[in-house]
Amino acid sequence: MGSISRSTAENDRPSSNGNLQPNHEATDDVDPPAPNGHSAGIPSENDAPRKRRTPGLLPLEVGTRVLCRWRDGKYHPVKVIERRRILSGPNDYEYYVHYTEFNRRLDEWVKLEQLDLDTVETDVDEKVEDKATSLKMTRHQKRKIDETHVEGHEELDAASLREHEEFTKVKNIATIELGRYEIETWYFSPFPPEYSDTLKLFFCEFCLNFMKREGQLQRHMRKCDLKHPPGDEIYRSGTLSMFEVDGKKNKVYGQNLCYLAKLFLDHKTLYYDVDLFLFYILCECDDRGCHMVGYFSKEKHSEESYNLACILTLPPYQRKGYGKFLIAFSYELSKKEGKVGTPERPLSDLGLLSYRGYWTRVLLDILKKHKSNISIKELSDMTAIKADDILSTLQSLDLIQYRKGQHVICADPKVLDRHLKAAGRGGLEVDVSKLIWTPYKEQG
Ligand code: ACO
Ligand code: ZN
Repeated sequence: MGSISRSTAENDRPSSNGNLQPNHEATDDVDPPAPNGHSAGIPSENDAPRKRRTPGLLPLEVGTRVLCRWRDGKYHPVKVIERRRILSGPNDYEYYVHYTEFNRRLDEWVKLEQLDLDTVETDVDEKVEDKATSLKMTRHQKRKIDETHVEGHEELDAASLREHEEFTKVKNIATIELGRYEIETWYFSPFPPEYSDTLKLFFCEFCLNFMKREGQLQRHMRKCDLKHPPGDEIYRSGTLSMFEVDGKKNKVYGQNLCYLAKLFLDHKTLYYDVDLFLFYILCECDDRGCHMVGYFSKEKHSEESYNLACILTLPPYQRKGYGKFLIAFSYELSKKEGKVGTPERPLSDLGLLSYRGYWTRVLLDILKKHKSNISIKELSDMTAIKADDILSTLQSLDLIQYRKGQHVICADPKVLDRHLKAAGRGGLEVDVSKLIWTPYKEQG
């Protein structure tokens, strides 16, 4: 996306369909904690029947904190973000809630029955509450949140974060249809006002035009002659293809892609000047055409040596190695340009996990093979990974020591093997011999 990225980063873990999976304390996944009954260590009689109403409390005010029954059947702390009337009675409201332990992508409308009104807190001192929450978290949970918060909020000033959250607090489009998938969305996206009265959008999977009704899409599909993204196919290996789309030549496509991507990217500001970006669209191809799996965008000229602005794998395709493929691809382009690169900051929680996994695997593979000493500069030249990212990755793995004013890599083969195992699968390989590409040059 042509965008500034900012991430909120709390711990949750949607699976490929956007649902969450159970937490395992020992992993580094971004899982929600899955305690029994009330979460965050709050004592509970589990799923014992709950008291129904507390007179005078209803309807709940925006900002109220309360426990809410989530899709795992357990109660988790939430904050009421918005409310809406569903019938005419004074208590007939639905509430849009944010699960304070989870990422914003899990915010949702809930019914009054899901809330445990015995736990309503109306006037909470934020600082006291933060302290209490941190005491209830395990050290592992806290570390995960701290790490991601540092990455996610480093450039945020509080006022712009509040403004962003106020404007985007309630998800507008709930689902989209794209190719053979119906996909639940994660975040607000600023679609034009004429789409504000619809919960579902229908996308043409090739030109990415979007419509409010299925009939419109069917009529569109009869006329649309695209069977793959516009632009040049720069990579084809087996059934995988990459297309390069110039935002200046394909403005509408670029904008449609940004609207679509924003549904899955938090803290992104949509820029409408897609002219400044190239979009790299990853597709799975079959006899019906080339179906978009994910993409990344890249500024045509980046002062900050960014080699990737936004990256997305569409939810039905996530956790299959496509993210690592896209990341690897972005570094292959940097190698061809003879430059080092780094992703635009800050990274989202999932972005950070994917990058950390990629960097770890690439760097440790080299360290394992390389018998003699190797410097960070040499690693950077070989991989096109920016030296800062190499340093932070090796530091996070405790593989760096600072001796006599220099960083020294300490690579014990057993330790490398252990980290490599923990870094997970390698993802899909980029076969560089199949990449036909020359770096962007301004025409005229
Ligand atoms: N829970 C736990 N770990 C995860 C999860 C998850 N939901 N998703 C990815 N990871 C980690 C895992 O370590 C995974 O490796 P593994 O499956 O071998 O364990 C690794 O990240 C990457 O997995 P991939 O399958 O290669 O990546 P995927 O295709 O799922 O795409 C991506 C990753 C692009 C970050 C995807 O989650 C996504 O599109 N998220 C929404 C948009 C987003 O946050 N983009 C990054 C913003 S930052 C920026 O744009 C610069
Ligand atoms: Zn179309």
